[in-house]
Amino acid sequence: MKRLFDNFSLRFYFALIATQHTMANRGNFSGRLGFILAAAGSAVGLGNIWRFPYLAGENGGAIFLLVYLCCIFLLCYPIMVGEIAIGRAANSDAFGSYSRLGGKKWGYLGLFGIFAGILILSFYNVVAGWAFGYFLHISFGDLLNHNNFGGFFGEYVNDILDLSSVGGLTNSNLVFSLVFMCLTALIVSQGIQKGIEASNKIMMPSLYVILIGIIIYSLTLPNALSGVKFYLIPDFSELKIQTVVDGLKQAFFSLSLGMGALITYGSYFSKKENITSSAAIISIADTSVAFVSGLMVFPLVHFLAYKLNINPQEIGTSGPPLIFVVLPQIFYEMGPVLGRIIGGSFFLLVCFAALTSTVSLLEVPVAYLVDQKKWKRKRVVWLMALIIFVCGLPSMVSQGMIPALNSLPFYRGQDFLTFIADMSDICLTVGGCLMSIFISRKWGIHNMDVELVHGNSTYMQSRVRTFLHITIKWIAPILLGLLSVVIILEKFFGIENLI
Ligand code: PFF
Repeated sequence: MKRLFDNFSLRFYFALIATQHTMANRGNFSGRLGFILAAAGSAVGLGNIWRFPYLAGENGGAIFLLVYLCCIFLLCYPIMVGEIAIGRAANSDAFGSYSRLGGKKWGYLGLFGIFAGILILSFYNVVAGWAFGYFLHISFGDLLNHNNFGGFFGEYVNDILDLSSVGGLTNSNLVFSLVFMCLTALIVSQGIQKGIEASNKIMMPSLYVILIGIIIYSLTLPNALSGVKFYLIPDFSELKIQTVVDGLKQAFFSLSLGMGALITYGSYFSKKENITSSAAIISIADTSVAFVSGLMVFPLVHFLAYKLNINPQEIGTSGPPLIFVVLPQIFYEMGPVLGRIIGGSFFLLVCFAALTSTVSLLEVPVAYLVDQKKWKRKRVVWLMALIIFVCGLPSMVSQGMIPALNSLPFYRGQDFLTFIADMSDICLTVGGCLMSIFISRKWGIHNMDVELVHGNSTYMQSRVRTFLHITIKWIAPILLGLLSVVIILEKFFGIENLI
């Protein structure tokens, strides 16, 4: 008996050492704050500042906001809790987590997430490069001396090799995106605490400060209140199926769900901490940035309408040009000094938001190669960054430089960047749907409960548990399954033809 005990305790001891060893090698967040800031950093990104306002503008403002909030709290929050629980329970990357908890076959779902991450980062880095270039051109160049911002943007995204100097700065988006990818790689190569956590601890608070500063200023502008009204007073006649589809899709993208980013970050999160409350804080932090971005953009747009003496509806707020064409025009109207300060700060904010997201996107494949293939972090980071940068080149040249990529015949004449962005949306919703099926039908919802009790001793008796069970077992698989089908039909055949 004693021998058996010794044998057992010895094995237990070695197992413990081994786990501690892997945990130490993998790295972890220093505490709850570090994790929350990093996960909120992943969530807060171009999706909040670039995509949310234009989707809101296209979908009736306040009514879109309402739908979006419902999606976040009724559907996305439970998915987020589930993802973090998977990562922390398995203590591994996306592939390792699914295969450890559900067997090798489920590992493919992790690989699918890693693939989705690469897809997203490939086009995301291109748009981040545009924003980085605008930050430099507005702060230190003479972009605000142009008064044909549409023309400038068209040329800027079209000719990525334009190395000619504009106001003392290069105009090549190839250079800007490359620098942006290098910044991302530099942070990720420093590891979890020294790289990801430390950079988020600086960038996230700065982002909030800049955002609040610009909002306060924009609310003092003439006609700002009419923008606030458009944004905050819902008109229920604007509620359409498209509004719900766009709201759900955007909520999923914005919270970085469905592709393993939160599984990976969750795997670095201490067992002592509370997942349910941390996920609530992350959701609120992300939603508040999306919400206040609208509060910043719409007063600015209505101010421009006032200045130009036109109807706000006449200002094209739809699509990506909102922040690259309409906003610079507004900064121009503010005058050379104030325009440079407010415009420069705005694009710095966009860069911070994008960088905290690109870091999380790069970490997903990196964690996979470090955990599964035992490659050295630094080497993997730079290699992956290079591969993903190259994968982004077709998106970069699809804005006019290569006509064949500017109008894809099989994709209703849309450009390659839009195609990749849409494919990512599909990957995320399919990934989220399969993840909820994984929890309820394979891993077991009771195992998720066991994980959630760590750091939250009252979880088993809480209402949150019932809510999570209902959503993960029934609502998420059905709704996300349906949404995936609708998005596929919408993207390839046009939703107007469906309804
Ligand atoms: N949530 C980011 C945004 O709103 O811009 C985008 C994103 C980042 C999606 C990380 C997915 C992800 F894993």
